Amino acid sequence: MNKYITKVILVAVLQLVGWQSLAQTHSTPQKRGILLVTFGTSYPEAQGSLLHLDEEVRKAFPGEEIRWAYTSKFIRRKLRKQGEVLDSPAEALAEMSEDGFTHVAVQSLHIIPGDEFDYLKATVDAFQHIPKGFKKLTLGKPLLFHHSDLNKAAESIADIYSKNLGENEALVLMGHGTTHASNVFYPGFQYYLNQHAHNCFIACVEGFPTLEDTFHALNERGIKRVRLAPFMSVAGDHARNDMAGDDPESWKSILEAHGFQVESILKGMAGFDAFAAIWIDHLKKALHELE
Ligand code: CO
Repeated sequence: MNKYITKVILVAVLQLVGWQSLAQTHSTPQKRGILLVTFGTSYPEAQGSLLHLDEEVRKAFPGEEIRWAYTSKFIRRKLRKQGEVLDSPAEALAEMSEDGFTHVAVQSLHIIPGDEFDYLKATVDAFQHIPKGFKKLTLGKPLLFHHSDLNKAAESIADIYSKNLGENEALVLMGHGTTHASNVFYPGFQYYLNQHAHNCFIACVEGFPTLEDTFHALNERGIKRVRLAPFMSVAGDHARNDMAGDDPESWKSILEAHGFQVESILKGMAGFDAFAAIWIDHLKKALHELE
């Protein structure tokens, strides 16, 4: 009999503890948010592309709270000197935690899964281990990740540029490039451009293929005119100086010295609906993973 009573008491106590912990989880309300993370830019002209992306994300996920962070320390410092304070991903996440967010989908607005993405992933992983921190954090992939992303991106390049190219005219995209193993996404993307976008080439300002690597194809196809456009989220420093600048080492000057007529397009990929849609697709998945 004593044993029976002890058992009953034990069961009652366990149930009470169970209910209490259940009540506790229910008493903390869920607060969901989105953190958009870009390399960043200090060019006010370039920020229009990021504002466009912000609008597209708001349209796709009405009612979700959206915050921004810049991964580039150099750009954050430069902006701070101008009186504009932008958070690093760690600062933004710490603030979101303080503000009571429990579930956050972090979306990388980088182009490839390179150093900046690795750094962001490490930050997100670290925040998952902070006591009394978030209940759940997920990370959306950069623009180019899956086969379908590369296909969609090449089709979008075709839609935006190829159909407007004239006779003997080519598009040369300026990718960033990296010493990270994922630089292979750039020559890899050329494969997709070959399938979808006639006379469109990609080269890198800090990686491979180089601008000179495109000369063979340009000459072989009898190209006389080249359109230059950044294959970066914004048309910032690289696009304005290394690509379209008047400096003799800019891509525009080098191509002109080789006898090509050059036209530069200063619009980053975040400014186009088609590319925004790829990032938004990855964010949709990250939000879904929060559930
Ligand atoms: Co750079």
